[in-house]
Amino acid sequence: MNARQIVSGVYWMGALDWHRRLFDALIPLPDGTSYNAYLVRGQTKTALIDTADPTMQRELLEQLEHVPSLDYVIANHAEQDHSGLIPCVLDKYPQATLLASAKGKPMLMDHLGVAESRVRVVADGETLPLGGKTLSFIYTPWVHWPETMVTYLREDRILFSCDFFGSHLATSDLYVTDEGRVYEAAKRYYAEIMMPFRAVIRKNLDKLKPLAIERIAPSHGPLYDHPAFILDAYRDWIADTPKNEVVLPYISMHGSTEKMVNHLVGALVERGVRVTPFNLASTDIGKLAMALVDAATLVVGTPTVHVGTHPAVFYAAHLANALRPKLKFAAIVGSYGWSSKAVEQIAGLIPNLKVEVLGSILARGLPQPADLAALDTLAETIAGKHRELHLH
Ligand code: FEO
Repeated sequence: MNARQIVSGVYWMGALDWHRRLFDALIPLPDGTSYNAYLVRGQTKTALIDTADPTMQRELLEQLEHVPSLDYVIANHAEQDHSGLIPCVLDKYPQATLLASAKGKPMLMDHLGVAESRVRVVADGETLPLGGKTLSFIYTPWVHWPETMVTYLREDRILFSCDFFGSHLATSDLYVTDEGRVYEAAKRYYAEIMMPFRAVIRKNLDKLKPLAIERIAPSHGPLYDHPAFILDAYRDWIADTPKNEVVLPYISMHGSTEKMVNHLVGALVERGVRVTPFNLASTDIGKLAMALVDAATLVVGTPTVHVGTHPAVFYAAHLANALRPKLKFAAIVGSYGWSSKAVEQIAGLIPNLKVEVLGSILARGLPQPADLAALDTLAETIAGKHRELHLH
């Protein structure tokens, strides 16, 4: 695909990866992704902001055939999906200087083998005149690595945000056209990648407030020509107050846990609580992560394998712990055959979640009327806790 003009002298480059289905050998990509690089031509200097995934070398080099000289390569982020082609771009343009944050420089040297002599550290707030186009660099750490920064083009009011505000979405649209689709992709991206750094993201958003931003140009997914759409979404996602929602990851081996889960789902719905169950035998782990963005309560449903929890539940509990969502409450339900340490095991897996534990209900084999009654009581407790916090 050829470079695409955004405004005079500013171009999208990079590649669409329509068919990629897994990122970092971890994150599902139902809609593929893109690796956006940007070329900024001033009257005297030219800069390339980020590169692309190493698999896209041919695409980027073909686009650069129309760029006779390059003065700067700007690495907003050292992760390889954006930095991976920096070595070959530096080879193509021996006079170019690589610019990175103070923490970015050693990471680019470690991960890509870039020679120290090719990299110059830019300070937080530093500006770079290109002749009629002025770039400034703003450190925005932990979106989502410690070295991340964004680049702002003052004259055209474009924020090049790299992963920040990105979405894993391959689309031929340069800008957002279907807000619902992009909202879902961006929320999934936030949930899987950004959510653990919620508190730092708030500081970074505050730091960006003084900027007049007409366009946000992330390094994944379409650009935003109505920045308020994604800025408001981020403000909502990082807010401390959760929503009146329960997320319920579970797995069931012989149907007992599923029967309990179904009963609890019905009991919660009757009490006005939104709830989403996720059968871990088949669920898209990204959808589970998205549900954790807003949920006030986590209920884990597990059968007992030997005397412990099911391995799929280990994985889901570990994931929830790592993502550090704003959950307030938790509970465990499930079943066992003769003995179970599932509750203690799950509790030990979620130390990062500062939740009030509302109880555990384990049935021996099929749930009996007393177990179902206990689930009704749990639903009542959850609904009451949500009401106390005035959650919507
Ligand atoms: Fe898109 Fe953190 O790389």
